[in-house]
Amino acid sequence: MLKDKKVLVTGAAGFIGSNLVDALLADGASVVGLDNMFNGRMENLADASASPRFAFLKGDVRDMTFLLDAMAGIDVVYHEAAFTSVPQSIKMPQLCNDVNVGGMVNVLNAARVRDVKRVVFASSSSIYGDTPTLPKHEGMPLRPISPYGVSKMAAEAYCTAYHHVYGLETVSLRYFNVFGPRQKDSPYSGVVAIFLARIAEGKNPTIFGDGEQSRDFTYVKDVVRANMLAATAPDAPGKAINVASGRPITMNDFTKAMFKACGKEHLQAQHAGKRPGDILHSFADITLAKEALDFVPRYDAVSGFEELVRTMRQ
Ligand code: UD1
Repeated sequence: MLKDKKVLVTGAAGFIGSNLVDALLADGASVVGLDNMFNGRMENLADASASPRFAFLKGDVRDMTFLLDAMAGIDVVYHEAAFTSVPQSIKMPQLCNDVNVGGMVNVLNAARVRDVKRVVFASSSSIYGDTPTLPKHEGMPLRPISPYGVSKMAAEAYCTAYHHVYGLETVSLRYFNVFGPRQKDSPYSGVVAIFLARIAEGKNPTIFGDGEQSRDFTYVKDVVRANMLAATAPDAPGKAINVASGRPITMNDFTKAMFKACGKEHLQAQHAGKRPGDILHSFADITLAKEALDFVPRYDAVSGFEELVRTMRQ
């Protein structure tokens, strides 16, 4: 699909970026990976670095000169680099804006100057915010409730505007609760990475609230596949598209399934107070992903987690 194409991935040493780099190389593309190594880890690019079709450049999306150099001769850009944490964005809204909005404008400007064909942007379901309507569909009003959500909404709006005004082919993919190999275990990480680390240590994980909140967990392999499709899908430019499993699960049910998949059914989740700012339910309408990308997810939360455990054991 992307064989012989020259592709650039920002945030290449991160969780989603590095999984995407590996799949692009397997597909026959030549890949330039950028990362400022703020969150990224070189070990995530160990396999990629062995390929003669991979080049790594250390630098920042806030640096326009760096981006212009990196984008020479590139056909497709995947913009995965981001300030990624919702709670951190509440502590550092200005930095979040500089990276996520300023960085997006730089990426789009460099792509125009370098005649890049298409830019695929990693957006987030956090832009839906606290709207009660379920499932979340792309036509809904957006009401982000964190600086992070606002920054992703603004970056998406820039993508759409650049498509309309300059004819640049842009596609925004709204990721829902992505998990999988290489996701970091830190207080600011997604819940799956945190719980997997606790379970591996034989410790009881802590569910915030009563555990009846639900999420549309999406396995990273599905996210990567949606990205590959978004590079060439004829009806995708100018659109923002949900990428999710479309099958929500409560934290209580998912935690029990995690114990089972790890052979640790004797563990028991502890409960702590509800996390401030947490939304209750999140799940995606994925009709547009099917129509515009021909994307149908292959995993749900439980089958994705089982695959993650198999991958970790190898
Ligand atoms: C996540 C992403 C966010 C993204 C959004 C939609 C992270 C850190 N956040 O937010 O960037 O925009 O999905 O794709 O990846 N929980 C526990 N115990 C814990 C940690 C979390 O019970 O130790 C609960 C939370 O209270 C929440 C659920 O697990 O109800 C999911 O939390 P989390 O993984 O942090 O994701 P979101 O807040 O949904």
